[in-house]
Amino acid sequence: MSSLRLDLAYSTVESAIGALEAPIRHAHDLLHHGSGVGHEFTGWLQLPETYDRAEFDRIADAAARIRASSDVLLVIGIGGSYLGARAAIDMLSHSFHNQLPRSRRPGCAIHFAGHNISSSYLSDLFDILEDKDVSVNVISKSGTTTEPAIAFRLIRQWMEKKYSPDEARRRIFATTDRAKGALKRLADEQGYETFVVPDDVGGRYSVLTAVGLLPIAAAGVDITALMAGARDAMAAYANPSLAANACYQYAAARNVLYGQGKQVELFVAYEPSLQHLAEWWKQLYGESEGKEGKGIFPASVLFSTDLHSMGQYIQDGLRMLMETVVRFDKPRRELAVPQAADDRDGLNFLAGKTIDFVNQKAFTGTLLAHVDGQVPNMVISVPEPNAYHLGQLFYFFEKACGVSGYLLGVNPFDQPGVEAYKRNMFALLGKPGFEAEKAALEARLPR
Ligand code: PA5
Repeated sequence: MSSLRLDLAYSTVESAIGALEAPIRHAHDLLHHGSGVGHEFTGWLQLPETYDRAEFDRIADAAARIRASSDVLLVIGIGGSYLGARAAIDMLSHSFHNQLPRSRRPGCAIHFAGHNISSSYLSDLFDILEDKDVSVNVISKSGTTTEPAIAFRLIRQWMEKKYSPDEARRRIFATTDRAKGALKRLADEQGYETFVVPDDVGGRYSVLTAVGLLPIAAAGVDITALMAGARDAMAAYANPSLAANACYQYAAARNVLYGQGKQVELFVAYEPSLQHLAEWWKQLYGESEGKEGKGIFPASVLFSTDLHSMGQYIQDGLRMLMETVVRFDKPRRELAVPQAADDRDGLNFLAGKTIDFVNQKAFTGTLLAHVDGQVPNMVISVPEPNAYHLGQLFYFFEKACGVSGYLLGVNPFDQPGVEAYKRNMFALLGKPGFEAEKAALEARLPR
């Protein structure tokens, strides 16, 4: 059973989604029978049940060693190879996890690299690692992605200088393909402990594999509870009936809204700890659906912060928006507004009320205002932020995305469009084999 609740009462299409009963069932069958396009990448569907228990134990063991030996785990990866871990660690940890003294947090500080090509970022990172004990988890399914490969080359040399090559070897963990790719070869040559990205799980669906689990566990999060949540969601959302399946209702509602011209879906959160869940969600939906000239554009806002910047547009701008709100019934921590004897700020009417009470009123007030402004809202309520519920959320969004892609008529498991920039970049960098493209591109640039 799932503990997530989907409320479509403010979506304006609650009564219209029934028309998608048959297409939803068809999409369900394509997914569950493995007969849809991209079916070779649907290993995530049964993963919460079928995952490799022996590897899971090895992940837990490696994470315990990392926590015991290191102040910092440096996670090197990009896209699906880091966003899930970052989403989980942000949502479930102290807001200032990395800054807390080690005795006050359950795991290592977690820093990220290889998700940009910034020399300033990498140089600054070395400054903060200088006096720390560091372990590294380099993550790349293909093992050939440029951004993490460059970062790892730098970090590997830095680790070997800081420690002996032998000690560096013990502190580096590689998560990559079972058999192929440059990273796998390097890891085998160097003797790094390796973890596997299953062949049938694409990057953006891989958070519940070693890709997400090792960094999440190193941060001190309970990965057993995370998998238990995903497993319960898998059972809850296996029901082919639209009326009985909230995950399918979400997929149906956003597609009906898309058909009505709502081309942009905003992921909305009222907790800053959800910023990277939003980033993970954007990758999942953007890469899965944005192809063949179609697809809802996924974007995100954090309220109430962004009500003071994007709020005007959302309320009054071009009417192409729908919102998906992820909210908690209960915050991770609670605090009340204090009484003030002078009441100079006029806030005594809130004295004794919790900050979360104010946040919930901001949510309700905004919801009604935006619906009045023709921005339909879908609301997903989560009892509280913990690993079990996040496991459910990850699975909910993954499955809704697969079904939604099939409703749209695209392959939700490939990403051919991300190759275009890579080819141009390699050509412009002078990579061997790209000589003709280099000349053609350079001819288009100002001299
Ligand atoms: O979802 C995807 O497939 C991509 O975002 C990849 O995760 C990203 O490009 C990183 O690829 P890799 O893990 O091969 O380095």
